[in-house]
Amino acid sequence: MISEYTVGKFREIETPFYFYDLDVLRSNLDIIRREIQHSGYKVHYALKANSNLRILKIIASYGLGADCVSWNEIAAALEAGFNSSEIVFAGVGKTDKDIEAALETNISCFNCESIPEIEVISQLAARQNKIAPIALRINPYIEAHTHKYITTGIEESKFGINTWEIDEVIRRLPALKNVRLTGLHFHIGSQISRMSVFKSLCARINELQEWFSAHSIDISSINVGGGLGIDYENPEKKPLFEEYFSLLNEFITLRPGQTLHMEPGRSVIGQCGSLISRVLFIKNGSNTLFAIIDAGMTDLIRPALYQAYHKIENLTSKGHIYRYDVVGPVCESSDTFGKFIELPETKRGDIMAIRSAGAYGEAMASRYNMRNLPSAVYSDDL
Ligand code: LLP
Repeated sequence: MISEYTVGKFREIETPFYFYDLDVLRSNLDIIRREIQHSGYKVHYALKANSNLRILKIIASYGLGADCVSWNEIAAALEAGFNSSEIVFAGVGKTDKDIEAALETNISCFNCESIPEIEVISQLAARQNKIAPIALRINPYIEAHTHKYITTGIEESKFGINTWEIDEVIRRLPALKNVRLTGLHFHIGSQISRMSVFKSLCARINELQEWFSAHSIDISSINVGGGLGIDYENPEKKPLFEEYFSLLNEFITLRPGQTLHMEPGRSVIGQCGSLISRVLFIKNGSNTLFAIIDAGMTDLIRPALYQAYHKIENLTSKGHIYRYDVVGPVCESSDTFGKFIELPETKRGDIMAIRSAGAYGEAMASRYNMRNLPSAVYSDDL
């Protein structure tokens, strides 16, 4: 809930901006920390969801590790206080420069997605006289039942090593002296709301583990990736962390000495952020009213890119209910946050909140139309 007090403060601030409720973040982290203490699992926060330094510092202070996809993310994680030995480095196209810097920092693991990538990591590690710990990201062919742009574990995905190639990878590994296979990595998609999908992933991991055992290959870590969804219809609702941990606990069979790792992003930060904007104009359309706001797809691209739903609230009106198309100022028809949205009578100057925008909001902002990047405001500072 965004309180009256907070709305009063918003009136004094230039829009658009991201508002982060740090209490919501801390309460998510409290739950995650409890679950970690129970289970012994390792949680690496996926920085791509939100790499805002203030937020990273809070997450690092709870003792989580980090999941990064570029050297810049690794550098941000280190600056925020994450331990390099708890950083994993993922991505289907890592550059030599990024790999070299990550090797110098002695990160915990490179999550690898192809044979050519493993060869390059081995060569670059040899130059530094190091042995790089690697995990194989395996494509488990599981349909995540989420938007097709954020489904990653089906056969036609560019991600991961195909199961038919595992044999070949294992044959090649002994010759690659500067990498050491330590783990298996999976990530089947994002915004997954059906728990049964994770159950299928566990079953698949168990099958693959059988294969590795049968070939006497020792694996010390199993990383299930991220993907736990949030409820965009109910921004106050917490992600199902407890259910998620207990499902993994029940359905994955770990071998003695193995550690389970995960990489949540959205679930950690999604419900903590709202994009706050002012109404510029109300304009008559042929069969709708447009509420034109000062935030656009450059600030939050999810509706334009994935037809994503975000709850929109008018924080400063209690009038009669009308229906509006809530749109941004950018020169693209897809710059629309919602169509036929019921809102109390909305006027120029009203303050609007686009909820559940903490993950993949600010992190995906752009400067299209030469617009400014949105700023960030934190509940602790109001
Ligand atoms: N691990 C890997 C290897 C990933 O690729 C991702 C997200 C995560 C972890 C974190 O997943 P999460 O827990 O946040 O679902 N921009 C899109 C989401 C892209 C997700 C990319 N990978 C969106 O706005 O919905």
